[in-house]
Amino acid sequence: MKNNDLNHDWMHGLYRLPTSQRQQIISDQFSLADDQQALMKENASQLGSQLIENYLTDYRLPEGVVTNLVVNHKTYAVPVVTEEPSVVAAACNGANRAALSGGFTAPAAERAMLGQVVLKNVADPAALNKWLLEHETEILAVANAAHPSMQRRGGGAKRIRIRPAAPFVSVDLIIGVGEAMGANTVNTMAEAVAHYLKEQGYDVLTAILSNAAFMSLQSAACRVSFKNLATATMNGEVVAQRIAELSQLAQVDPYRAATHNKGIMNGIDALMLASGNDWRAIESGAYAYAASSGQLKGLSTWEIDGDALLGRIKLPLPVGTVGGSIGLNPLTRLNFKINGIHSAGELARVAASLGLAQNLAALRALATSGIQAGHMQMQYRSLAVAVGATAAEVPVLVKRLKKLPQVNQNVAKQALQELRKDSL
Ligand code: MEV
Repeated sequence: MKNNDLNHDWMHGLYRLPTSQRQQIISDQFSLADDQQALMKENASQLGSQLIENYLTDYRLPEGVVTNLVVNHKTYAVPVVTEEPSVVAAACNGANRAALSGGFTAPAAERAMLGQVVLKNVADPAALNKWLLEHETEILAVANAAHPSMQRRGGGAKRIRIRPAAPFVSVDLIIGVGEAMGANTVNTMAEAVAHYLKEQGYDVLTAILSNAAFMSLQSAACRVSFKNLATATMNGEVVAQRIAELSQLAQVDPYRAATHNKGIMNGIDALMLASGNDWRAIESGAYAYAASSGQLKGLSTWEIDGDALLGRIKLPLPVGTVGGSIGLNPLTRLNFKINGIHSAGELARVAASLGLAQNLAALRALATSGIQAGHMQMQYRSLAVAVGATAAEVPVLVKRLKKLPQVNQNVAKQALQELRKDSL
């Protein structure tokens, strides 16, 4: 190991080298074993090396498919990417329960992005306000000239909003980005407007899109009959009441809200990854929206409605179906073939519904057997793989682990040894 050496010269200019040379340097510096070197090389791709700097290899994550997600009467099979064992199982469970009661409804929603050009040292805010309003047409023309194709496609900069953020003033550009995520378009337009305002003598602090995408809010809802919530030992109405209480808890307790929303984002992030979208942007927007009242709250609510549980969700989903890495990655294209999604609006509707399905499954588990029962089933599988069980051994080992009162890595290791002894 040379990573504690004082000499870090090898790091300089690493980005200029071809991938193979960079891999070699890393292998030497960190004394990688032959099989580790081979792993790094086998997983490397041309595409990856074109996407990021200092590229080494592709880090793979499991992809699964969420089945029976019914949104606006269309049944989807949705590929998702996640490393968390219980996510796909929970999503399928929630989707299925909702499907039995007619599935999700999600209306077509407005979609716009926001770029901010922030001014500082504003001596006379009222005069600035007046000047900006008088020059709105010019400002929008400057923005649109920076990305003319967007306007041709029905998008482009539509209006400005002047927002004090003392001691600064933010000139917000409201921009339509069509089917794309639009980050580059928005940033290009914001920078062009910043340049224009500088020319007019204004002091510009920064120009950048905002991830608080509150102009791309997507909602979804479902009404799940009590009978589709029952367990073997608990009737559906009691389950529904407990889910409604858990929902209330997420509205009043930020500690619970964070976890409630994490469950929702388990599904949405996994879909964002599988569809080549910027999941950090979606996360950032979701949490900004969840805290927009000044207190972090659950993004979804559940309430009793006659003989059913009514669930609703609303969050910013400024997603895209073109642009970024979407067109470049063949697996992303494959995923769009499977999910049958044709537009950014449709992707947002499916994502909101998936988040609500994921949330339903989590809350139902919390309201009934607790989260660990279902989780452990999946954790056993991961544990079996981690201790070296072969594909054939995994199901047998999982069966044995389930019978034990307490399971950890050592217990699993021992159980695997016993299984192998037994099968000699
Ligand atoms: C685990 O990844 C997500 C949950 O904790 C969500 C929740 O508690 O609602 C199960």
